[in-house]
Amino acid sequence: MNKKIGILTGGGDCPGLNAVIRGVVKSAIIRHGWEVIGIEDGFDGLLDLDKCRSLTLESVRGILPRGGTILGTTNRGNPFSYPKEQDGKIVIIDQSDKVVENVRTLGLDALIAIGGEGSLKIALELAKKGVPVVGVPKTIDNDLRGTDFTFGYNTALETATDALDKLHTTAESHHRVMILEVMGRYAGWIALESGIAGGADVILIPEIPYDFTRVCAAIKKRSDRGSRFSILVAAEGAFPVGGDRVVAKSADERNAIERLGGVGQYVAKQIEQCLEMDVRVTVLGHLQRGGSPTTFDRALGSRFGTKAVAMVAAGEFGKMACLRGRTIGTVSIEDAVRDLNLVDPEGEIVRTAEDLGIMLGR
Ligand code: F6P
Repeated sequence: MNKKIGILTGGGDCPGLNAVIRGVVKSAIIRHGWEVIGIEDGFDGLLDLDKCRSLTLESVRGILPRGGTILGTTNRGNPFSYPKEQDGKIVIIDQSDKVVENVRTLGLDALIAIGGEGSLKIALELAKKGVPVVGVPKTIDNDLRGTDFTFGYNTALETATDALDKLHTTAESHHRVMILEVMGRYAGWIALESGIAGGADVILIPEIPYDFTRVCAAIKKRSDRGSRFSILVAAEGAFPVGGDRVVAKSADERNAIERLGGVGQYVAKQIEQCLEMDVRVTVLGHLQRGGSPTTFDRALGSRFGTKAVAMVAAGEFGKMACLRGRTIGTVSIEDAVRDLNLVDPEGEIVRTAEDLGIMLGR
């Protein structure tokens, strides 16, 4: 049967989104002869039919190695609590009925939502309202339960490891403590794995509150042994024992979630107070979200995209494509968004880091 499927990318962008879009469009058209409608700017696009356009094989030509998303995205557009200006004030309204109506108006047999935890929670609520939804797990943070890896994470790791390699040479030349602040929100995956790969001396992650005295003691011990520089990776969500995360901007009516940032400077001040060493901070920021996806993310994105189409063909709605071991499978979106996939403080990767002599703040 001929089908019409919609596809959108929601939340923060990440490398590999275009690989998924291409995978969906190619397999929908080549294998099934279906029509694909690209929805611009995440769920926002379903509130404005002018933002919905047909995607052809021509539309996805050459996009596999490109970062970002040809569809655009937003990490603000939750139709269930949508900020709207009324009489000079921002009021929050529920626009979800309009989204459901537009899905019907467009004649969509399925909606493929590519997103992280926030976007997939919205997809789940739409599924409960009767929209036939299929999810694809995206985020550099790798914090989605239900899949071993999200696409985008591997590319972000490469970027962070490359930054650490570069910081190493300058740290060594100047006998400095170099701090690299990386993203990851409440999960420490990027900090932990790039820190191991980049030979960091200290890694601070949200899952293990750090103790400043111990961090300083570890750096001092290194310098006493003749290593006159140290490399510290701090996840943006890391916080000290008994303290709080460093928040760059609190949540408000426009931004549903707080924006993290500043832990690098915060830690630098503490180190400068306890050690007579020069400290510099690099905030890697959105560089982690940009650039061409790695081979791993291109392949994973392509596999997720084609799987999403196969899920539509099989009528597997309310589910998300996932990676388990080396196999692509499916998991219910409800299970995938129930809680976050965080680093296990007693798990094998943390143990590996500690066996390598890396200090994890405890
Ligand atoms: O979830 C992806 C992510 O890059 C986080 O690691 C980070 O905290 C956040 O998004 C930054 O969001 P924004 O693009 O709004 O600054």
